[in-house]
Amino acid sequence: MIHETDMMQDIETVLVTEEEIHSRIREVGKQLGDLYRGKNPIVIGVLKGVVPFYAEMTQAMQIPMQEDFLSVSSYGGGMQSSGKLTFRKDIDQDIRGRHVLILEDILDTGVTLKALLEILRERGPASLKICTLLDKPSGRKVELDPDYTCFVIPDGFVVGYGLDYKEYYRNLPCVGILKKSVYQDD
Ligand code: PRP
Repeated sequence: MIHETDMMQDIETVLVTEEEIHSRIREVGKQLGDLYRGKNPIVIGVLKGVVPFYAEMTQAMQIPMQEDFLSVSSYGGGMQSSGKLTFRKDIDQDIRGRHVLILEDILDTGVTLKALLEILRERGPASLKICTLLDKPSGRKVELDPDYTCFVIPDGFVVGYGLDYKEYYRNLPCVGILKKSVYQDD
């Protein structure tokens, strides 16, 4: 059961603290800013989990860029990737000949991003790279490595800083493993 008043009561272990998130995003943001300076990139956020990461990372990059978002679903409301990618919203801009950076909150099975990359590559971008807040290599079902990673995490169902369980916990400022008691009877 989801705790009614205190989100932290549902967290088994904190994997990444609020301070670690801010400091690492500043660091990677500076690197990405240097790499994309003068390239007028389009930075694409994969909704909804990416929202806090997107806001913080794009500011940390400190360069002119165009922003865009898309929304797909591979998990539905459940705990595991279904493998079926459904588009809810596509990006608004033409990426042909442009430098494109995709921001993601988590790379787990890799199914979502692999399918997305194939679709976006067909549109002819000058470059196409991925930066993920979290990489969970133990979950991988397809061959895919992110170009830039903020944190590599172990196996476990993680929530916080954008990641949800039934749309809850996205506003938690840290990333943690959800207690089994929260979802075992669902
Ligand atoms: C999550 C996450 C990634 C994807 C990663 O999205 O934001 O897009 O799953 O998983 P994969 O590597 O196993 O494919 P989700 O479908 O839960 O949507 P959300 O961001 O709206 O929560």
